[in-house]
Amino acid sequence: MRWDFDEEVSREGTGCVKYDLRKQVFGTGDVLPMWVADMDFKTPDFIISAIEKRLKHEVMGYSFQPPEYFSSVSAWLRLRHEWKIEDEWVTFCPGVVPALNLCTLAFTRPGDSVIIQPPVYTPFFSAVENHGRNLILNQLKESDGKWTMDLDSLAASITPSTRMIIISNPHNPVGRSWKQDELTGLANICIKNDILLLSDEIHSDLVLPGYTHTPVAKLSEKIAEITVTCIAPSKTFNLAGLSTSSVIISNPVLRKYFKSKVDHLQIGNGNIFGTVASIAAYSEGFEWLDKLLEYLNRNTAFVVDYCRNFIPEIIPVKPEATYMIWLDCRKLGMTGKKLGEFFVKKALVGLNEGSSFGPGGEGFMRMNLATTNKKVIRAMESIRRAVETIR
Ligand SMILES: Cc1ncc(COP(=O)(O)O)c(C=O)c1O
Repeated sequence: MRWDFDEEVSREGTGCVKYDLRKQVFGTGDVLPMWVADMDFKTPDFIISAIEKRLKHEVMGYSFQPPEYFSSVSAWLRLRHEWKIEDEWVTFCPGVVPALNLCTLAFTRPGDSVIIQPPVYTPFFSAVENHGRNLILNQLKESDGKWTMDLDSLAASITPSTRMIIISNPHNPVGRSWKQDELTGLANICIKNDILLLSDEIHSDLVLPGYTHTPVAKLSEKIAEITVTCIAPSKTFNLAGLSTSSVIISNPVLRKYFKSKVDHLQIGNGNIFGTVASIAAYSEGFEWLDKLLEYLNRNTAFVVDYCRNFIPEIIPVKPEATYMIWLDCRKLGMTGKKLGEFFVKKALVGLNEGSSFGPGGEGFMRMNLATTNKKVIRAMESIRRAVETIR
């Protein structure tokens, strides 16, 4: 077998956030870490080979992204997501979170308002607030375990100072792969109110079997005109440590504003290995990704079945995308710090506590399933034993 996702790889002692920061984050090094969004799997062999080949050249001077960097991004989007873009629409950025912050700086002014839809990836909050912009929260709706965008309250929350909305498409942490009609409804509100749509599509390749990713800018030219899309190979191919992402903007005026921020901060060169890895990932990654998605789907199905059969107090929201699963723990009768502590101290697993994703997250936990099936089983058995003590 060429790729073995069951292989256990020790990550301790590599400066690894997920494993080596357990004591700081959870107060103990003794938890099975299933929190920060990277994978325990090896970065695929074809990417490591490309990096090794470049390393052998032995000169690591200044570099820039060659034309293949941009053409591999556009080819990937065309072949994987049926989204036709021009190479020149792509701007390199050293990470999606930096890109979100740069967009706030490029497209809004202090005092302007920016909307986000919690519970959502925590750096969305700081990407707005750190720059003196007003944060408007348009909470997602939940009904019978199904999470949706509240477009009525979105429209009602817009004021003359609203300049931008940031969406997670697919959505971290609730695992939705937004459908075309939901995205069209959202985009039409943005067009009507002259609001820029910043779509963080970092999880777009991680759409589970049975679902399709819709790049929002693909929906129409009018929507593309007001949209900025961020993608990266980092989640998909486990490359987060290489700080490499791409920002796609078809509107030349918006692109100029964004590029000028990257240029003024002198952060556009990137790093040699991130460039090489991104090209290899987008050129050779199809088959590996299909195998990864099958494996993740099995882990997800396992957790859903396990909860149903053995821990009915925990109701998983079956993800449509991302390798995270959003666990409804409200029946355990704990929220906030107490819920987090229960998982750390009693179940010995390190997950993300739901309220850290903002309003709507209370009573939920986010669990990262991008690890071996063996570890997932160990975690679920441990959670089961912990829940049994409070029944
Ligand atoms: C929605 C979302 N955006 C961005 C990131 C991180 O992006 P980067 O590492 O490229 O800054 C994550 C990581 O979990 C994420 O979930």
